[in-house]
Amino acid sequence: MRGRFVTFEGIDGCGKTTVSKKVLGRLRKRKVRAVWTCEPTRTWLGNAVRRGWAEGAGVFTEAFLFMADRSEHVDEICARMGKGQTVLCDRYLDSTLAYQAAGVDEDLTAGMMDWLRRAHLPFLLLPDLTIYIRVRPELGLSRISGRKGRTKFERLAFLGRVARNYDALAAAEPQRMKVVDGSGPLDGVVELCLAEIGKIL
Ligand code: TMP
Repeated sequence: MRGRFVTFEGIDGCGKTTVSKKVLGRLRKRKVRAVWTCEPTRTWLGNAVRRGWAEGAGVFTEAFLFMADRSEHVDEICARMGKGQTVLCDRYLDSTLAYQAAGVDEDLTAGMMDWLRRAHLPFLLLPDLTIYIRVRPELGLSRISGRKGRTKFERLAFLGRVARNYDALAAAEPQRMKVVDGSGPLDGVVELCLAEIGKIL
């Protein structure tokens, strides 16, 4: 039987990497054949994305790099699913929609999201389930405060916009995208995710 495709999404500091890896462990204990992957990937294309950051690439360059990385990743995900494996992916399409659409002027956000979505159509594999781990931007920011980058206030404003984009995406596609409160203890968040995944396995 074809495996399932589950993506984990949320703003920086929402905890999705820790949560998705714990979910992987729990699924494997239940004898579900699951694998974990992430975007940007660890291939040369994922490295190109990271290089784009280091070189200060603009928002469109960044979007194209994420899409190039994803278009190759989709092939690998499909191959895994074809072997009956359930693929857990830490960030995917919705990250591009939420983040890159937050990188343009506010009055262009909706148009940017629409363009990004259409640009994905020829190669996209839609997830069977997307878990959006929702935290307030202040909490996400406090969890990543040690990391380098923009100033605190720039980051908060940006993360706030990303969070609003995620909220809008979840509201538009409630069947695919399930919202899980990420502000509570880790084990509880993992249980909520497992409950959602249990419904599609
Ligand atoms: P990570 O911290 O989850 O590894 O993600 C790296 C950063 O990349 C994070 O700030 C979100 C950003 N990102 C995008 O802006 N667009 C995308 O399509 C992806 C996959 C990640």
